[in-house]
Amino acid sequence: MISEIKVFAPASVANVSCGFDVLGFCLDPIGDLIHVKMTEKPGVHIGNIKGYKVPKNPLKNVASVAVNALLKSHPTKNGFIISIEKKIKPGSGIGSSAASSAGAVFAVNELLGRPFKSDKLLDFAMFGEALASGEYHADNLAPVLFGGFTLVRSINPIDIVSLPYPPELIVTIIHPKIELKTIHSRAILKDDIPLKKAIKQWGNLGALVSALYTNNYNLLSRSLQDELIEPARSILIPKFEEVKNEALNQGALGSGISGSGPSIFALSKGMATAKKAGNAMAKIYKSIGLEYDMYLSPINKVGIKILK
Ligand code: HSE
Repeated sequence: MISEIKVFAPASVANVSCGFDVLGFCLDPIGDLIHVKMTEKPGVHIGNIKGYKVPKNPLKNVASVAVNALLKSHPTKNGFIISIEKKIKPGSGIGSSAASSAGAVFAVNELLGRPFKSDKLLDFAMFGEALASGEYHADNLAPVLFGGFTLVRSINPIDIVSLPYPPELIVTIIHPKIELKTIHSRAILKDDIPLKKAIKQWGNLGALVSALYTNNYNLLSRSLQDELIEPARSILIPKFEEVKNEALNQGALGSGISGSGPSIFALSKGMATAKKAGNAMAKIYKSIGLEYDMYLSPINKVGIKILK
């Protein structure tokens, strides 16, 4: 049996405009590197942290909290030291806590000889998400653990639907360098939603899923609308409307808040349009002197990868 493992746990985009808490897809170029060592001494510990700062206290770190949830269902006399090269900035809106939670439970599951399948790992990883955001949700976790584009039909019981997607779909992400904690951007949402808006939202969600199955870029474009969440949250993101409109003006199929923000995503057909959209989006932040990161990515169909 192997006693240590390193995995790449990718970033992801959740919500995808009309699918709050249910839709997500996995990104390629950015992710956390998670190294887990199995020890004879029991207990879950956080080892080295490189990159962005995250808590070393195992009760406050999403990775160790998720692993402890797994170990409750699979007690072992061994312990685990989790070291994290944190490359996804917490509070950036591209699934930072999901990557660490999912990566850690995936790695420990490998070290234990794979007692659990992905849907069970998702159940454990949700404890990490709940620590970060105050609520259980799996829209970032599902694409990280299953790869590709996913729909969370239910979290209790876990029911994940893997969706196909058009091959030329390219994602542009711009991350204005401010921090927006998911727990705060969830707190501003209302529990009640007007029926008329809900009707539009599920019309778009159904149509988006159909567009993904049929490679219908036109329908995809018409469906990337958010009636419910974006109007409330966009005020938290500098120049949101301008950035989104720039992407659309350059031919992006749609654009919206990535997860709980502040990152903004655009989906385009082909790399050339995705790049043009990215340049135009960046111009807005350049004009106000706001620093940003930008990523261009196809949808990552694999999800977590074992590195050694
Ligand atoms: N669906 C979640 C939200 C994703 O928007 O709050 C971020 O964790």
